Amino acid sequence: MINNTKSRADKWWETGVIYQIYPLTFADANGDGKGDLQGIIKKLDYLNGGQPDSKNSLGIDAIWLSPINTSPMFDNGYDISDYYDICPVFGTLEDFETLLAECHQRNIKVILDLVVNHTSDQHDWFIESSSSKDNPKSDWYHWQDAEPNGSVPNNWLSYFGGTAWTYCEARDQYYYHAFNKNQPDLNWNNPEVREAVYNIIRFWLDKGVDGFRLDASSVYSKDKYYRYNPVKFGTTDRNNYNNQDHLYDKDLPENHHIIQEIRQIIDEYDARVLIGETFIDSSLYDSITFYGIKNDELHLPFNFEFTFSPWYPGYLQRKIAKIEAVTPKDCWPTYFLDNHDIPRHLSRWIECSLCTNPDAIAEAAATLLLTVRGTPVMYYGQEIGMVDNLDIPPEKIQDKAVVKSETGELPPPRDGARTPMQWDDTAHAGFSFGKDVEPYLPVNDNYTEVNVVQQLENKDSIFNFYRRLIKIRKNSKALLRGSWKPLIHYPYEHLAYVRQTKAEKVLIIINFSYEKPMEVDEYIEPEDWSVLISNIWEEGKIIDIPETLQPFEITILQKN
Ligand code: NOJ
Repeated sequence: MINNTKSRADKWWETGVIYQIYPLTFADANGDGKGDLQGIIKKLDYLNGGQPDSKNSLGIDAIWLSPINTSPMFDNGYDISDYYDICPVFGTLEDFETLLAECHQRNIKVILDLVVNHTSDQHDWFIESSSSKDNPKSDWYHWQDAEPNGSVPNNWLSYFGGTAWTYCEARDQYYYHAFNKNQPDLNWNNPEVREAVYNIIRFWLDKGVDGFRLDASSVYSKDKYYRYNPVKFGTTDRNNYNNQDHLYDKDLPENHHIIQEIRQIIDEYDARVLIGETFIDSSLYDSITFYGIKNDELHLPFNFEFTFSPWYPGYLQRKIAKIEAVTPKDCWPTYFLDNHDIPRHLSRWIECSLCTNPDAIAEAAATLLLTVRGTPVMYYGQEIGMVDNLDIPPEKIQDKAVVKSETGELPPPRDGARTPMQWDDTAHAGFSFGKDVEPYLPVNDNYTEVNVVQQLENKDSIFNFYRRLIKIRKNSKALLRGSWKPLIHYPYEHLAYVRQTKAEKVLIIINFSYEKPMEVDEYIEPEDWSVLISNIWEEGKIIDIPETLQPFEITILQKN
């Protein structure tokens, strides 16, 4: 295990907790059924950067906003038609400036989603580029002729299904789109494109944003000869994205050069962060390469390790151990359980767990996320135990970007995890006060029991557990910075690990099972520990490490 205890300058993105907001469904202030920036402003005291002492505030340090730029919303904002403005759905540039100022006043950093692998097909750049073969922006996107036999230029597939090439009559050519056909990919080989994107980045940094989450940042580069991807040995379905080795349509060496250029811009400014979505065929190793050989690319490349793990201690520990082992010495890991593209963790894990009490799993998952060595990224609603809405009628589905495959199969829409934040038990869960409007997506029926107001009042709620955990984390150098060491080699029914600095030692115990003996493979002093938080023991009590774990016990102890 790499135990990185060396002291590091405190970078807010390494010690802070980041909270992802999906603006369309977080809070609607103007009553049109869609979330907006004014709505987020109204909820800032609830998020309340770094002040978990207030009992109504979560205490996170930064928000990451899913895209808020002007967009036809074909992919809910991940299809931008004007990078310099705010989508009218969300408000105005002035609203954004207010949001930024209000956040900074509360010590909350603001991270924007930067979607520059592709634009919307309604962006002026694409309109011009697609108008003819000889316009000034003709080479701003990937244009190719059909094959001599009339078929599409090569076998590259869209991540959302079907071929990645769409025909354009005005040019009698095809353009490439890694995602939907409404999301044409920019040609990053063109220096004018790079310059245009870099200007956008500077524009928002000059406004004062604290960083970016780069969308799809491992697919910027494409082979300049547009070679066919090899098909994986033994596979037959030629239209299945996962059956190709993506040698030529993603993660080429040039991709790293692009990120390095972006990082150089970021580094011209003080304390700004670069986070990136880098999963490629879900490999952790690929994500790790995006720190950069000289640590000159992303500060925090996302890995999807927790999201692809079952709720099982052995798997989860293996994931953490892998991340610990491969994260370069001067780099910092990051973890998340949920985001807007995948089912929420409670929906994923409740089925495969022994425990039928979602609160217990939510608290165990919170403990894991907030006590491993790395930056935790939360997703709105996670702190109250929101689960996916699985009952959205087909006519109300908003996720239009994913397309049917050749076999007619439709990938599951991502809307279940994007439903309105459940603020209270009034109409629309307090998300929208619009009288005759329907919320952007149907509120989960469980909102009368699972909502913020109810959880603020209940001292044993998931919200209060998160709030206390965040506070404990903030006050513990070991949890913020300490090394990570597992005490069980092959955990089967419980996790036990230590976070430690020279001055402080914290033991984390999570039981995934019924009552059982506490077993560890490494020696640990049994006596004299203080309870920092537990669902069994009273906070502040001095105890010996328990010999028997209670069902689904979560206990965090600090050595005296
Ligand atoms: C990744 C984003 O997370 C997802 O929501 C989006 O559809 C694709 N990139 C395309 O931008």
